[in-house]
Amino acid sequence: MVIPLGRPIFDEEMEKAALDALHKERFILGESVFEFEEDFAKYCGTDYAVSTSSGTEALRIALIAAGVEPGQDAVTTPASFIASANVIIHAQAQPVFADIDLETYTISPKQIEKVVSAKTKAILPVHLYGFPADMDAINLIADRQRLVVVEDACQAHGALYHGKKTGSLGLIGCFSFYPSKNMMVCGDGGMLTTNDEKIARQAAKLRDCGRKSQYVHDVIGYTSRLNNVNAAIGRIQLKRLDGWNAIRRQVAEFYDQTLEGVGDLILPPKGSADIIPAYHLYVVRTKYRDGLKTWLESQGISCGIHYVLPIHLQPIYQEMFGFKENSYPAAEELCRTCLTIPIYPNISKEEIVYITEKVKSYFL
Ligand SMILES: Cc1ncc(COP(=O)(O)O)c(C=O)c1O
Repeated sequence: MVIPLGRPIFDEEMEKAALDALHKERFILGESVFEFEEDFAKYCGTDYAVSTSSGTEALRIALIAAGVEPGQDAVTTPASFIASANVIIHAQAQPVFADIDLETYTISPKQIEKVVSAKTKAILPVHLYGFPADMDAINLIADRQRLVVVEDACQAHGALYHGKKTGSLGLIGCFSFYPSKNMMVCGDGGMLTTNDEKIARQAAKLRDCGRKSQYVHDVIGYTSRLNNVNAAIGRIQLKRLDGWNAIRRQVAEFYDQTLEGVGDLILPPKGSADIIPAYHLYVVRTKYRDGLKTWLESQGISCGIHYVLPIHLQPIYQEMFGFKENSYPAAEELCRTCLTIPIYPNISKEEIVYITEKVKSYFL
């Protein structure tokens, strides 16, 4: 059996929507873009959504629209894709890391409190692997210290926190539609969500060259628009998202039940009535990570490591900021021990049974 780590879904309905957008709409900022934004805001339960050319651009524009300025700090997690911290540098601010909680792999509110200073303007929590960060505690810190919260929901489309969708839990939420995500647009794409009208307007301006009108510009903007074709595909994917997430949760439940107590495996944090993860990734931890990965791959099962290095130990961060090992022990422990096994809506029962059997046989 050969089982890939992801299997992006693109079908005839999406192909037709893409062709229709090409034939019927103007090429830049056509109807599909605005319809996708409307659909996405409705889905997240926010008043506004502004699409962008990637998740990274959504985050960069979110920080700038939220008023992050040169010389200020934004606090984020070292356990994420590098873009979560890069965007702070793009906004000409300084990334400050707060270690994670190993129970959830998301940023620890206690650690945030230790690093917030007079220079801090924003907190950027990441719902890593689709598990919502501790947003009540994070929002409380933000309220007390007058900080803005920008959620990195790039891995958490459709996750729920106390009945609310991720993306609606801070001042701004940001999503990526990269092909590996729970929903995608067959190319790069992103979206930011907010209830703040001024921020939505500013973000729409920033992603479109800073335009006030066609050739009048009143802010320094970017060419960071989402393409119509991608937006048209995104609209179809969004309609399927809840169904796909329901299957991801069933697969996760099967893994949870079948892999509990196997070897030294630590399974992902469990959801509850209040926290319903999106299971973007199913990540186990073991001190035998490298051996297990080699074994599974020899059996045709592709695995991932999310991530090989915590952000502070990426060569460029060590070079720019002088970070050393043991600065953020929990994030480093996660990166040393994590292994991602396949989870997606179009994985078969036969495949997930095969995966669990091969994992078990490694520990026999
Ligand atoms: C947590 C996180 N933040 C940011 C990004 C950046 O998104 P994109 O690749 O669309 O720029 C990603 C996805 O790759 C991500 O997983």
